[in-house]
Amino acid sequence: MEIPDKILFVCTNQRDPQWGKESCGDHGSSAIAEAFRRALKMRRVEGVSLRSTASGCLGPCTQGPHAVVMPDNIWYSGFSLEDVDEIVVSHMLGGKPVVRLQSAPPLDSNVVEEV
Ligand code: FES
Repeated sequence: MEIPDKILFVCTNQRDPQWGKESCGDHGSSAIAEAFRRALKMRRVEGVSLRSTASGCLGPCTQGPHAVVMPDNIWYSGFSLEDVDEIVVSHMLGGKPVVRLQSAPPLDSNVVEEV
């Protein structure tokens, strides 16, 4: 199995409204995950392995959607479909995180250890 140079996890968790807790699915994260997949496929670069994948809850939940780029441990929150290309081009391909969309890694998350 090929290990990607970078992989972006997009939370697509959708909670039942009865739980009374916000989730990334409330912010269109499934469409965003698909947009990342398509954007990376369109911009394939020889010798660079980049992937995105939908994930379960990453921890922060509110003010989503949330995504994290590994192994950089750079988190993005509250972005939209319109921001997908910028994250792909600037960060995934160019190595420059999109500072205006970044958020701090959640302190109560153990995602880094699980990856
Ligand atoms: S529901 Fe997306 S981070 Fe928890």
